Amino acid sequence: MKFSSFGEKYTGRSGIVDLMADLGEALHTRPDMISMGGGNPARIAAVEKIYKEHLVQLLEAPDGAYEILGKYQSPQGDERLLKQLAALLRDEYGWPVTDRNVAISNGGQSAFYVLSNLLAGRFSDGTHRQIQFPLVPEYLGYADAGLEADFFTATKPAIDILDDHIFKYRVDFDNLVVPDTTAAFCVSRPTNPTGNVLTDAEISQLDKIAVANDIPLIIDGAYGTPFPNIIFNEVSPYWSENTILLLSLSKLGLPGVRTGFIVASEALIQAYATANTILNLACGNVGPAIAGRLFENREVLTISSKMIMPYYRDRALKTMELFIEALGDIPCYVHKPEGAIFLWLWFQQLPVTSARLYEILKAAGVLIIPGHDSFAGLENDWAHAHECIRVSYAQDDAQVRKGVEIIAREVRKLYEKA
Ligand SMILES: Cc1ncc(COP(=O)(O)O)c(C=O)c1O
Repeated sequence: MKFSSFGEKYTGRSGIVDLMADLGEALHTRPDMISMGGGNPARIAAVEKIYKEHLVQLLEAPDGAYEILGKYQSPQGDERLLKQLAALLRDEYGWPVTDRNVAISNGGQSAFYVLSNLLAGRFSDGTHRQIQFPLVPEYLGYADAGLEADFFTATKPAIDILDDHIFKYRVDFDNLVVPDTTAAFCVSRPTNPTGNVLTDAEISQLDKIAVANDIPLIIDGAYGTPFPNIIFNEVSPYWSENTILLLSLSKLGLPGVRTGFIVASEALIQAYATANTILNLACGNVGPAIAGRLFENREVLTISSKMIMPYYRDRALKTMELFIEALGDIPCYVHKPEGAIFLWLWFQQLPVTSARLYEILKAAGVLIIPGHDSFAGLENDWAHAHECIRVSYAQDDAQVRKGVEIIAREVRKLYEKA
């Protein structure tokens, strides 16, 4: 079958698609495999119970099933929910937003796809613009979102070694160049894959530079505030007229409902709603219906900061300690876990590439994510990109413990052989 350029792009080779297929296949063929690779949120029984109760009550309400299953919402999303979210953001953070600054999406991935292609790519005057990552590593799910080739640019981070085992990335403002062809900055905060949380100073500096260059700052808050608030240190939530904030219900434990939100200027929300109508007609109703109940008495905030955040914080710290102990004198640094649901390990002078390490670990019974796909937009290959891996600690304690042991054992063998 012959495909169009669009078809070729979306059916062709892609790091993330290959990796996901391989992860799926590995889990299928070896059910005992320890999965520290995927981005699935953890199962937290008490939180699951709350969602289930809301869903049952929604269905049992008069006309409940019809409201959720039987009708299309407007292109921007259910008006009542837009008002509820705007009120929550105004009350909690003092942001000057109304329902005209908010839209609903079928998840953060879909929102990013629409928005990034609205802003970057080919323009009618023949010019070409790109989305810039001011700091990579970034979320690997962005890498193939652009309809056009050459869609991203990126700047290497500054690396701070915090102690014998911990490091942190920083935006390298001294080397942050913003060419005329830049369409927007994009950061995830907290960052997938590293667990980094850009500081307040970094965010405000980035927005200042963005404003000066007349480009928006996309902040992907899939793990951020106000929900699911998987942030372990004190930072302030951020929004300005120049910001496009993406939120999602997924890491609250609801990835199956495919619901996200966009908080942005009115003009951008209008543009998004029009494009979303063409692409999706409307968003799904189940996620927004659950969100409506969670927003009503701000239950979403207590679930996030009292149940979800502490769960991941404890797991992150415990898993980091396990790694540090198991790795001993191996030259490994863990990125300071400040948020999200992963640990990012950097093996200095790793004797093989992270892609090879992925294969070795898979053969030994553990799935991880090799780091190199998280550096989209970098012009030149960077050795550091091949020395890092992402591990999820969302599985149960015993599995994670076993996974850490296997990773340490296999990595030690590599260093001993070199
Ligand atoms: C940083 C980041 N943004 C967006 C997404 C997509 O999330 P959603 O399930 O809302 O499409 C993910 C999913 O893992 C993510 O890690």
